[in-house]
Amino acid sequence: MSDYARRLNLIDLNDYPVSWWNGLLELAHEILSAPQDYAKACDGCIMGTLFYEPSTRTQMSFQTAMLRLGGTIIGFDNPATSSVAKGENLKDTTKIVSGYADIMVMRHPVEGSAKAAALTAECPIINAGDGGHLHPTQTLTDLLTLKEEKGSLENLTIGFCGDLKNGRTVHSLIKAMSCYKGSRFVLISTPDLGLPAYMKDMLAADGLSYKEVSRLEDAIGELDVLYMTRIQQERFASEEEYLAQKGAYILDKEKMKLAKPDMIVLHPLPRVDEIAIEVDDDPRAMYFRQARYGMFVRMALILTVLHKNGTPPALIRGREHKSVKCSNPRCITHREQYLPHFFEGSGDILTCEYCDQRTLI
Ligand code: CP
Repeated sequence: MSDYARRLNLIDLNDYPVSWWNGLLELAHEILSAPQDYAKACDGCIMGTLFYEPSTRTQMSFQTAMLRLGGTIIGFDNPATSSVAKGENLKDTTKIVSGYADIMVMRHPVEGSAKAAALTAECPIINAGDGGHLHPTQTLTDLLTLKEEKGSLENLTIGFCGDLKNGRTVHSLIKAMSCYKGSRFVLISTPDLGLPAYMKDMLAADGLSYKEVSRLEDAIGELDVLYMTRIQQERFASEEEYLAQKGAYILDKEKMKLAKPDMIVLHPLPRVDEIAIEVDDDPRAMYFRQARYGMFVRMALILTVLHKNGTPPALIRGREHKSVKCSNPRCITHREQYLPHFFEGSGDILTCEYCDQRTLI
């Protein structure tokens, strides 16, 4: 068995059974009820945080989570101040830091980078966001918020609004909520910012209910949860393309009047202009509490991973196809040339193991 097969990495939440996520949510609930009981739970442990991309919430909530568990932290929040600036590749940086730390948290702008790092790291890797692909610990944050604030994760109608194309938090949460009974999705976006085809195919294959609308006003009244997202300027090819989408959706007091009295508004944050400040005082605005829930669920995750509670999922499920290149230009395999080209599936369509995009051969 390869070393990586023995570790509880968190690359994609859907690598684990729902029972494992539910266990994390229960532990997070216990921690937030009595945080002092966990103050020494990670005494002597070190967490490495490698943030190749800017972050406030994910980085600081992971750091405070480890500090509140009695552990310590190392790492960088700007690759320009590390040897990445000298041209060090992902493999070498993660291999070295994972030799210093007991658990490593990484955010990187390239899709599939978390799985690439997990292949050679010496300690468990937590994906803190890999480009426009996935953000599983934001999803745990969202699930804990829904559980605590709505009381159940079943039978919820969730509207996702904004940049559904590039929003990794959206992709991760849709994949997760697909596993709970009675989930219904309303996708609210412009045609250019719609959910990627592979995600819609996944919903269709699972027989899940979703509809697409272009106006928030037309959908808000039927929602239990409105998940607002930022138009992700950093993922656009040009300023012109971004400006064409900027300001497409703005939630304000007037639109909130159309919503159910118990609808809640989530947002992974940061926001730019998509939620007017005037909405912050509405009791249904849950995004600041959501960010705080993130710290507790990350405490639960760190404890679970370090105490090896769970069966490590297979990191690689398919096999190497040396001559096939992933069709996604934003995939890590185009950036880090040494990576084996692992794909799942057979026949004409293969699915990249790093970024989940399909390639026609
Ligand atoms: N939600 C989230 O990922 O926020 P940061 O980019 O500030 O970490």
